[in-house]
Amino acid sequence: MTATAISPLAGKHVVLGICGGIAAYKSVSLLRLLVKAGAEVQVVITPAGKEFITPVTLSALSQKPVVSEFFTANTGEWHSHVDLGLWADCMVIAPATASTIGKMAHGVADNMLVTTYLSAKSQVFVAPAMDLDMMAHPSTTANLALLRSYGNIIIEPDTGYLASGLTGRGRMEEPENIVKVLESWFAGRNDLAGRRVLITAGPTYEKIDPVRFIGNYSSGKMGYALAAECAARGAQVTLVSGPVALEAPAGVDIVKVESARQMLQACSEAFPAADIAIMCAAVADYAPAETADRKIKREHSEVPVIHLVKNPDIAATLGAAKKPGQILAGFALETDHEADNAAEKLSRKNLDLIVLNSLRDAGAGFGTDTNKVSIIDRAGRTDYPLKPKSEVAADIIDNIVSRL
Ligand code: PMT
Repeated sequence: MTATAISPLAGKHVVLGICGGIAAYKSVSLLRLLVKAGAEVQVVITPAGKEFITPVTLSALSQKPVVSEFFTANTGEWHSHVDLGLWADCMVIAPATASTIGKMAHGVADNMLVTTYLSAKSQVFVAPAMDLDMMAHPSTTANLALLRSYGNIIIEPDTGYLASGLTGRGRMEEPENIVKVLESWFAGRNDLAGRRVLITAGPTYEKIDPVRFIGNYSSGKMGYALAAECAARGAQVTLVSGPVALEAPAGVDIVKVESARQMLQACSEAFPAADIAIMCAAVADYAPAETADRKIKREHSEVPVIHLVKNPDIAATLGAAKKPGQILAGFALETDHEADNAAEKLSRKNLDLIVLNSLRDAGAGFGTDTNKVSIIDRAGRTDYPLKPKSEVAADIIDNIVSRL
């Protein structure tokens, strides 16, 4: 932002959550920058946070009493986390410690910060800060994944010198960059307002018998990240999801399906009203011709043969029904001849763009928190570096918005 430009944060109500970590010293700069950008900031600090930074500094800078406890001890005044949650245009938790991230992920509402988080109806940004081993611990990874699945935006930590004296990933993002993330979110958040978006995600399961199915490794993370991004940008989102272990992102209508045929049915119902459809699901191409109604037993004298039939191609079916003005995006998951295969699918399925990801790229495709994609359309190809799926989703939606 230049000195004269008005920040998109001007006039916004920001709840700044501060946890007990050494990076809390950076929260002072963050608060200063938010106030300078014109935001009205209410600081909520955990009891441990007050050990690292004094509330006097924070209330002087925010021009508001800092909230930390449910009650003010001497007056008995109650601080309503519900009112704060409703007041906020956004909440940013910086630094977010492993402990608070865990509490937020699992709804452990034992302090003012976490209760405010649980009451917040607005976008929540989380800027983790911790030592490298805590950052790399599977519980931290799993808890952050849960927060992402709730629609929270994780402002990824940097790699560098840490307060412990070690060097690694866990440094809280610099306050200037956190402000930039908030500004760009407020600047762009409404670019899908009034638009309806249909997204498919996850695998399909094609039943063999009551205990077995044909499926694949899709976790749903990419499709759910797209749904969260579209909802954050004001769209009305219908997410048709195969069986996954993720929570629906905030503000998204979810339709849970199992098989490709069920997915086609749900998509056919939602597509006519959609402005944008993004086919991110890994749909099984084949299904057993018949589903046994009892478990197929091992005692067969011969190995059973499962006859397969072709599943409907959902993307191609929507492509054939597409009306002018509708944008249809597909994905291509390839292992070889990537660009040629993607271009063939773009044309055969009548897509407007196709997002190519290759299983040959480390960190891309199934199950990972990251992806590396290229967006291909009839005009050419744009390559993107490996990024968290939330950021890949933002790139894809930016590309689609530019076509509206
Ligand atoms: O879920 P994650 O673990 O995060 O992994 C993300 C992902 C790898 C599943 C995702 O990024 C992805 O690539 N999704 C598409 C996977 C796929 O099935 O690709 P495909 O090349 O086989 O299919 C091409 C396109 O046609 C896709 O848009 C697919 O949704 C669609 N399709 C395919 C078959 C079918 N019968 N009907 C379809 O609509």
